Amino acid sequence: MPITDNKNYPFSFSMIDITKIDPSPYQHRKYFDENSLRELGASILRDGLIEPVIVQPQKKGRFQLIAGERRLRAIKDHTNMTMIQAKIADVDDLQARRISAAENLLREDLSAIESIEATIEIIDVEMGKEPEYLTVGKTPLERVHKLLSKLDSIRRSKERGSVVSELEKDLSNKYVGQVESIFKNLPKPLKWQSFLMHDLILLTDIPSIVQTASVKHGLNKAQTKALARLEQVSAKVFHDVTKKDSIPFKDQNNNLSPKLKLKEFSAREIQTFAEDLEKTNKKNDQKKDTLQQEFSTEIKAALMTRLGIPHVRIAQRLNIHRETISKYAPKNDEFFNKIHQDFKSGSCIPDIAQKYVVPQPLVWSVILQEKTDQERFKDLNWGLRTWDNWYFNDVDHRFGDDWPGRIPAQLVAHTLFYFTKENDLVFDPMAGGGVVADTCLAFNRRCWSFDLLDRIKTRPEIEPFLWDPENLAWPVPAGKKPDLIFFDPPYFKKMAEHYMKGSISDFSKAKYLKFFKDLFSLMREHSKPSTRIAFLNADFRDFQSIPAFDEDPENAILLLEYAKLLENCGWKITHLIDCPLSTERFTGNMVSKMQGKRTLGIIRRTLIIGKPNILHKNDAMQD
Ligand SMILES: C[S@@+](CC[C@H](N)C(=O)[O-])C[C@H]1O[C@@H](n2cnc3c(N)ncnc32)[C@H](O)[C@@H]1O
Repeated sequence: MPITDNKNYPFSFSMIDITKIDPSPYQHRKYFDENSLRELGASILRDGLIEPVIVQPQKKGRFQLIAGERRLRAIKDHTNMTMIQAKIADVDDLQARRISAAENLLREDLSAIESIEATIEIIDVEMGKEPEYLTVGKTPLERVHKLLSKLDSIRRSKERGSVVSELEKDLSNKYVGQVESIFKNLPKPLKWQSFLMHDLILLTDIPSIVQTASVKHGLNKAQTKALARLEQVSAKVFHDVTKKDSIPFKDQNNNLSPKLKLKEFSAREIQTFAEDLEKTNKKNDQKKDTLQQEFSTEIKAALMTRLGIPHVRIAQRLNIHRETISKYAPKNDEFFNKIHQDFKSGSCIPDIAQKYVVPQPLVWSVILQEKTDQERFKDLNWGLRTWDNWYFNDVDHRFGDDWPGRIPAQLVAHTLFYFTKENDLVFDPMAGGGVVADTCLAFNRRCWSFDLLDRIKTRPEIEPFLWDPENLAWPVPAGKKPDLIFFDPPYFKKMAEHYMKGSISDFSKAKYLKFFKDLFSLMREHSKPSTRIAFLNADFRDFQSIPAFDEDPENAILLLEYAKLLENCGWKITHLIDCPLSTERFTGNMVSKMQGKRTLGIIRRTLIIGKPNILHKNDAMQD
């Protein structure tokens, strides 16, 4: 006769044959450490199965496991037992899923990721009783993430006193109480806002390879985040560290200190290791350009073809015959297949790039080719920003060369995500270190780039070109109109000493603005109705030496002026996106000097998005 415990489901105990137990469909993670399974098997043989596994009865005398996969594996693989005691729970599938997740949450050896997954399971089971909720997304993660994000955004709007629609109010009234009560009744109670901010991001913003490693090594949340940072800094070192289960700190290599496992390093230590590595990488990057080997003509042609640069231009640039480029094509396909195979068999991207002497972004382009944009964000370890504030701590060293004014590839990727689609044609008129072209490779967009400096050895895709204010010309045939112009010019008076002669950065204010006026008009003339311009700039104010109150506006160029110019040249501004600069470049000393002088710094940088204003064009034509 089944009994019912305080969890309100009837159950009984019985000895059952282990071959009649089917695996749990609710167990997502399949990593079990063999050594610890062996130890568990020995302990069960010695002391018996202290805690029975939980099963759900199925048809034809079979059972489905709800909880206890580790114990069952240990018994199957490391004992000669055939019958075990089991708790037979008389429950439906939903209850089984909840019990499985709750049991998981109470496991002592649970990694942070598994614990978050188990929590998601429970929330999803509970909320799943609402049919409307189930339409929110395809997977439990998607549904829980969307629901909590929405509730959180409504809560924030209310707090700020912004308008909240009736629909949103209803949604919040309907779900907030329910969500709070589910979180309160979890085996380990939590606050849902904190779960959204600190836990869920481990599944939404961290690439799956880091998640897998985190489970395998039993890492906590902070360690997992630090490991994700390491993966971002260097996929190769991440690969080594997780494979060897240790961090090669200098004093770890002397035989005097005991060798620590990855999980024994604190998050702080993993983070410091990643940061030090990043500093070293940066230094090496600086030397790279001079030391870098020249890419072969075949690789150059493959890269440029992948970026959608027409053969006739490639031939001209590489000084080869057009037919030669066509002859390369089958070889390229073979080569791309090799890249795929190497990646599948566990080689990491920097290693593949080094092995074949190709640029890393070309390898990314092959690996990510079949993926969706969202998958690309995830694989690159870039959290996808949903709002109009794209702040990134740092540039991503995998994309673009070390270059004065280099921008984060994440910023370019977001522009591509929101304003272009697969295979669209992107123009970068002032390409600098090539971050736009590199990001286009990873996101399968075509890209034509131009800049003053000719770097044929390593950047064949960037054509040398001078935008000459006295004689502005468009460098491509009239028929090839871009889908996006990503325009990141040198800012007024900034970095003038770093760029080549001819750079607009040291023009006078009048000449600088006139240059933009002419170039915006030229860009407008060579655009189609669906073209978008993405123009990145910041206010120029002579803030560094003067108290804010005394700044001379005659000396300044505010973003508003560029906006006016754009509108006057036939562009309609559609979006203003904040892309703030990091304050990290200001030392404590500089900040206290600024504060002493009441100097107001600038970290605001804005991406202005515009599209051709059809009406304006008509006006202009009438003029
Ligand atoms: C801000 S940087 C671009 C940085 C780039 N987006 C990156 O992340 O590496 C601006 C570039 O404009 C180029 N430039 C400046 N004046 C130019 C001109 N008149 N014609 C062509 N390129 C020019 C400079 O050489 C510089 O590389």
